[in-house]
Amino acid sequence: MAESMAKHRIFSGIQPTGEPHLGNYLGAIRQWVEQQDAAAPHDALYSIVDYHALTIEMDTGALDRHTLDLMASLVACGLDPARVTLFRQSDVPEHTELGWIFSCLAAMGDLQRMTQFKDKAEQNRDNINVGLFTYPVLQAADILLYHADLVPVGDDQVQHLELVRECARRFNRRFGETFPEPQPLLSKVPRLKGLDGSAKMSKSKGNTVALSEPPEQIRAKLKVAVTDPARLRRNDPGHPEVCNVFTLHGFFTAPHDPARLGAIERDCRSAALGCVDCKKELADRMLEHLGPIRERQAALRARPDDLRDLLEVGRRKAAEIARATMETVRERIGVRVPRRPR
Ligand code: TRP
Repeated sequence: MAESMAKHRIFSGIQPTGEPHLGNYLGAIRQWVEQQDAAAPHDALYSIVDYHALTIEMDTGALDRHTLDLMASLVACGLDPARVTLFRQSDVPEHTELGWIFSCLAAMGDLQRMTQFKDKAEQNRDNINVGLFTYPVLQAADILLYHADLVPVGDDQVQHLELVRECARRFNRRFGETFPEPQPLLSKVPRLKGLDGSAKMSKSKGNTVALSEPPEQIRAKLKVAVTDPARLRRNDPGHPEVCNVFTLHGFFTAPHDPARLGAIERDCRSAALGCVDCKKELADRMLEHLGPIRERQAALRARPDDLRDLLEVGRRKAAEIARATMETVRERIGVRVPRRPR
């Protein structure tokens, strides 16, 4: 079962916290699909990290529902369960087992410096649980359980990946060379601004569109989307380089019609193209792109048993790797040591 030297293993995770939206799609999912379709030799695992999502309070049943919905969305967006391993984190209990081991290696001081922890603690003052604090340790287990060396993530996860590498180094130093030091595979996509022009596109800010959102609602949201903030009057020249709507044209117009993107840029600057028309055009392109995804998503969501079957396919593939890793890990640290025949 020797792997060829050039082969990379990719791992990434996404939390089932609700409807995936444009930010998740453009920032993560779309790139996972591109990687899958690229010729480069690698294998990839993508996990729906439900135990991470448990750090946020949710109604009973929501975790399962969101997991199935997310699975439907991932497949609808083009991830192919036959070519990549798509699975649910809690289906492979080795994640939490290795997580505990890493929690005995990670330094409190390092975790205290995590900006995501500080932000989330700030946002959830009434539920600052220990899981929120040790979140990156579980993330280390996610990645290292599969000996992944590349982790496609946004730049907000770079700090977590430093911690992941530190866990690998500490384990290796103490128990012998076992884990690689994974590197982030940063997306080329600049951090997307919300439709309201605020810093981050997120569901909690209500400034994005869900992949499953009805077309009319998407149109309505785009109609009021913030464009170049300096362009106050109708016939002012625009500044596409600072316009979020232009950035979105880059995703939805450019791939089919690169020349049109150039024309939009030029006509925006000369004020020949106004924001209202520009946004309407974006809505048309976006609906063309998202329409088929939305249809596939709805069809998949109507068949939860099939989604569970797909998750089971992923579980089997992931579990096999996880089991082998943990056998080595337990042996190296000296737990559950098999009895020697006398
Ligand atoms: N922390 C990641 C996020 O918030 C999700 C995640 C969990 C993850 N485990 C992972 C990402 C492992 C990459 C690899 O987006």
